Amino acid sequence: MTTMFSPPVQAALDSVDEAAYTSRPDGSRVPQTSAPKIIASMLDLLDVTPGRRVLEIGTGSGYSTALLSGLVGDDGHVTSVEVVPELTARAADLLSAHGRRNVELICGDGVKGAPGSGQIFDRVIAWATVERIPDAWLRQVAPGAVLVTPVNVTGLAKTFMVVRARYDGRALQPQQLLEAGFVEAHDQVVDQWLVPPYGADALIRDEQGRPWWLSARWLRGRATAAGEALLARLITEPRESPGPLTEVEDSAAFYNYLLATRPAELATAALGEPVWRIGCATPAGAALITADDAQHTVHAGDEEALRVLTGWAETWRADGSPGVDRMRPVLQRGDDGWRVRLAL
Ligand SMILES: C[S@@+](CC[C@H](N)C(=O)[O-])C[C@H]1O[C@@H](n2cnc3c(N)ncnc32)[C@H](O)[C@@H]1O
Repeated sequence: MTTMFSPPVQAALDSVDEAAYTSRPDGSRVPQTSAPKIIASMLDLLDVTPGRRVLEIGTGSGYSTALLSGLVGDDGHVTSVEVVPELTARAADLLSAHGRRNVELICGDGVKGAPGSGQIFDRVIAWATVERIPDAWLRQVAPGAVLVTPVNVTGLAKTFMVVRARYDGRALQPQQLLEAGFVEAHDQVVDQWLVPPYGADALIRDEQGRPWWLSARWLRGRATAAGEALLARLITEPRESPGPLTEVEDSAAFYNYLLATRPAELATAALGEPVWRIGCATPAGAALITADDAQHTVHAGDEEALRVLTGWAETWRADGSPGVDRMRPVLQRGDDGWRVRLAL
């Protein structure tokens, strides 16, 4: 019989009662609980064997912490950092009630690692998206350590990918990509998710108070008035057209191709909804699609943005319509960490 996941990860999944961690007594789910399949795929990438010392960022419900606790076994250890105090306390109670003795929980900003824990780790896994892989993590890992984390891949808001990288003792070596999205890591408790914690360069609200935001490199370091005016046009004179892709083409592949090939020219946006868009925006106009629907475009202003987006689709086809399987991560050294970008 074949299983989807490696035997150790499958055994960990089979031995942990997910609902005990992710459901509250009233039946509601703990916020931001990740799908077990995504968790398991990332644990497979992490390659956790017995005896490993794991740093986890984003304890959340404690479910993934319990899986990690099982994977490392009695000789291993899991240090898990969560920014929301109530979640840390809840997970601590649950993990203790389930006899998980190889786990230490810390409440704080996991982007800073686990300061004060005195531990050196050989695996790091994060469940919240970082802007770059922070040096703080690398200061706490042993040579040969494997890191798996969602990371921003363009510098624009809401553009994510999970990356696996290996620390060779001096530098980080990029290894693999996995398509998955997680909320941005934040250093304090957040009470809204419609405006991203970073990357929204222009923001206005409509009459119902809903936020509309735009993220684009041309807006950076400038007055944001041009971006606000463009968002206002999207509110007052939106148009819809067939998108740049046909019904049989793969929207997600095109979306990721744009992340890899057009990071400097792209814009991302939200139009008053919890749906993130991507496309072309200039002070004169915008044309936007979503990650799972490039068959429809919302646009406003002049038609040049629409033509540019159509041209990007033609280039994608000319390149053989590649998806994530044809992409690789590239690391760039930054001030306090490693930025991740995509390359074909
Ligand atoms: C997708 S959820 C975690 C899911 C969790 N692994 C589970 O199995 O339920 C992401 C978690 O990361 C936490 N988080 C976000 N930013 C953080 C940060 N800077 N440091 C630590 N935790 C953070 C959130 O509060 C949230 O609980």
